[in-house]
Amino acid sequence: MSTTAVRLVSESAMPAGVRVSQLQPALGSTISGFRFDGRPLDEAFRAGLRDLLHNRGLVIFEPGTVTAENFTAFAGFLGEFFHYAGPHTPRAPENPDATMIDSLKDKNLRNHIWHADGGFRPDAPAFTALFAQQLPESGGDTIFSNTAWVYEHLDPLFAAYLESLTVIQSADATGHITDRYLDPEEATKARVRMPPFEMPLVRVHPETGRKWIAVNESYVAYIKGASRIVSQNILGILFDMIKSPEATARYSWTRGALAIWDNRVVQHKGIKDYGGGRRILYRATMTA
Ligand SMILES: [Fe+2]
Repeated sequence: MSTTAVRLVSESAMPAGVRVSQLQPALGSTISGFRFDGRPLDEAFRAGLRDLLHNRGLVIFEPGTVTAENFTAFAGFLGEFFHYAGPHTPRAPENPDATMIDSLKDKNLRNHIWHADGGFRPDAPAFTALFAQQLPESGGDTIFSNTAWVYEHLDPLFAAYLESLTVIQSADATGHITDRYLDPEEATKARVRMPPFEMPLVRVHPETGRKWIAVNESYVAYIKGASRIVSQNILGILFDMIKSPEATARYSWTRGALAIWDNRVVQHKGIKDYGGGRRILYRATMTA
């Protein structure tokens, strides 16, 4: 991880002793020197954090910033909690506002495929917070990509063409429902609960005005009105760009660290390279 301090607009809003550094050029900042004591955040600091998240996409807070019990109170500066927990993501024992992403409890967890959290619904959360509760001896990193950065590096003519396209998103685009709901009746109910929907392929961030590429490998089924071969190839180009080293930042977790990202523009995947080790992350998701 780079620790080069970079000048950011929001640095001026940081309290004394709080340091901001860059994780990677395309996205990500790290914050150190802050300890959350449960009291409401100073308004300037709160605005600065929101600004940082909107502009850098991902913010990592060093271990010690928050606890398993209070990280949701801290993340609450971003918006209202948005729970879409199901039987596969139980509530965290210490914290009713968080759900558990436990590598041992959910064998069907597909978080190792690029996705946006809740990307199977039109009102997916705006922000996700993950707290590292338990980690395998090695591995289990999370990799993030900034799809606004991807959009900004497209050929302008190709970008203009993409802006004319609509995608169909579906919870079952790559078999998410089929794999999880083995009982056919339950699967049918899940499909009724989470029907496919249309979205523009290029969207505009409401705070920054930056355009971003709204496709991910888990929940985008196809490009509306395009042939299968055109749809697959265009999506393939975009998926490759989203996964490119230049557009991404890989974070190696430390126990007690907290990551918060803008779940609209930034997509992610957990790296499943830790065999039988156990990895437990606590998650909270929020609306804007
Ligand atoms: Fe996720």
